[in-house]
Amino acid sequence: MQNLAIKVSNLGKAYRIGLKEKKQETLAGSIIAALKAPLRNFRKISNLNKLQNQDGGDDIFWANRNINFEVYKGEVLGIIGKNGAGKSTLLKLLSRITEPTEGRIEIHGKVASLLEVGTGFNPELTGSENIYLNGTILGLTRKEIDARYNDIVEFSGIEKFMETPVKRYSSGMKVRLAFAVAAHIDPEILIIDEVLAVGDAEFQKKCLGKMQEVAGKAGRTVLFVSHDMAAVKNLCTRAILLQNGSITYEGHPNDVVDYYLRNAAMIQNDTAGVSFENRKGNGKFIVTNFEFLNAAHQPVVVLETGMDAFLKVSYKSLEKSPNPVVNILIRNSYQQIIGNLLTRIAFPGVLKLAPEGYVLCHIPKLPFLPGRYTIDIMLKHDYDVTDQIEGLTIMEVEKGDFYGTGKIQDSMKDGLLVDHQWQVI
Ligand SMILES: Nc1ncnc2c1ncn2[C@@H]1O[C@H](COP(=O)(O)OP(=O)(O)O)[C@@H](O)[C@H]1O
Ligand SMILES: [Mg+2]
Repeated sequence: MQNLAIKVSNLGKAYRIGLKEKKQETLAGSIIAALKAPLRNFRKISNLNKLQNQDGGDDIFWANRNINFEVYKGEVLGIIGKNGAGKSTLLKLLSRITEPTEGRIEIHGKVASLLEVGTGFNPELTGSENIYLNGTILGLTRKEIDARYNDIVEFSGIEKFMETPVKRYSSGMKVRLAFAVAAHIDPEILIIDEVLAVGDAEFQKKCLGKMQEVAGKAGRTVLFVSHDMAAVKNLCTRAILLQNGSITYEGHPNDVVDYYLRNAAMIQNDTAGVSFENRKGNGKFIVTNFEFLNAAHQPVVVLETGMDAFLKVSYKSLEKSPNPVVNILIRNSYQQIIGNLLTRIAFPGVLKLAPEGYVLCHIPKLPFLPGRYTIDIMLKHDYDVTDQIEGLTIMEVEKGDFYGTGKIQDSMKDGLLVDHQWQVI
C-alpha cells in the first residue's frame, strides 16, 4: 500500500504488575525518541512475548490489547481517552521505546516523537549540545543540524539558556527545546504525546501551527494525543478513542470527541454515576437522578469548557409545596464552592412542579476550566431542606474552545473563565 504510513496489527503490551519498567532517563529515551530508520524502511516487529504464556495470570496487566489501525500519509490522527487508557503506551510502542508483547507494527518513514516531559535529554549536557545529540539520533548529519540550528533555537524561545545544562531547565523549557528539535527535523511521521499541555499558550499556538505546517506538507503524517478537544477537532483529520487499552471508537474527530464526551467515563466506570450516600433531609421532595446533557439534550459524562450544557435534575415530590427550590452547588478540588445555581434567584417566579419529573438548568457557556468538580444538591420546600446530597456526582471537564479562538490560558488552574470581548477603538 503506497500511502500507508503506519499499520498496527493485533498490538498488545502487557506489564507485570508491581514491576514497573525502569523509566528511560537517557537521551535515547523518550522525548525525542528516534528511529534511526532510513526512509522507507519497512519495519516489522513480531511477537516478542516473554509474557504470553502467562496470559490471564493475575500478575499481568495489558496496557494495550488487540489494537488494529492504519494511518495513511497526510493524515493527522488524534488519539483521545481518559488517563490510564493506554495512549502513552501506544505512542511508546510506535516510537520503539518499548517493545510489543504481541502483534506487529509497520512504519513507513522517518519518525520523530515527543513523548513524556523531562526525559529524553542528557541532563548533564547543555541545551545546545542536546540539540546536536538529538539531531544526530534523529538521523541528521552535523552539517544538517548546523543549517537548522538557529531556527531551532529561535523557535524554542530559550536562546539565553543554550549554554545551560538541561538539568537546570524547567519542564516547560525542556518541552520547548524538545519540540523545537522535533519540528525542525522534518520527519515524515511526527508523534506527539500530551507534552504541549506544559508550555504557555503562546508557545502552544506556535507548536500547533508547526504541526499544521508539518501535516500540510505532502505525505507528512502526525499522531497527536491530547485532552484538548478543541485542538483535536480543529487539527485532526481522523481520531481514535482508547478505552482500557483498546480502540473503542474511530472516525471523524467531531464524532469521536462527541462519543467520548458522552460515553467514556461511563464505560470506564470511574466518574459517572450518582451517589446518594451522603444524604439528609425530610424526604418530601427528593432527587431521583442527575445527568449532564449537551446542546442536543443527549446525556454526556464528560463536559467541555465553553459548551452549551444542561444539568438535569430528576425529582419526586411526596407533598405539594407552594415554593419548591432546587439548588446545585459546584465545588473545586479544594472543596470551595465556585458555582451556586439556585432557582430561588435565577428562575423568574416560583417553580410549579408535577409530583414527578425533572428540571433543567441551562449553562449556555460552561465557564469551568478542565478538571474535576464535585456536585452537591439541595432540594427545599421553601426553607425546609427536603433532600441534601453531598458529593452527588463528579463533573469532569475537558478543555474546549470557550472564546471561540481555539485558545484558553493553560497556566490557569483555578478560577472561572469570564466571557468577554476586546475592542480596539
Ligand atoms: N512501565 C509500566 N509498568 C507498569 N504499568 C504501566 C507502565 N506504564 C504504564 N502502565 C500502566 O498502563 C496503563 C496505561 O498507561 P498509559 O499508556 O500511560 O495511559 P495514558 O497515557 O492513556 O494515560 C496505566 O494503567 C498505567 O499505570
Ligand atoms: Mg499518557
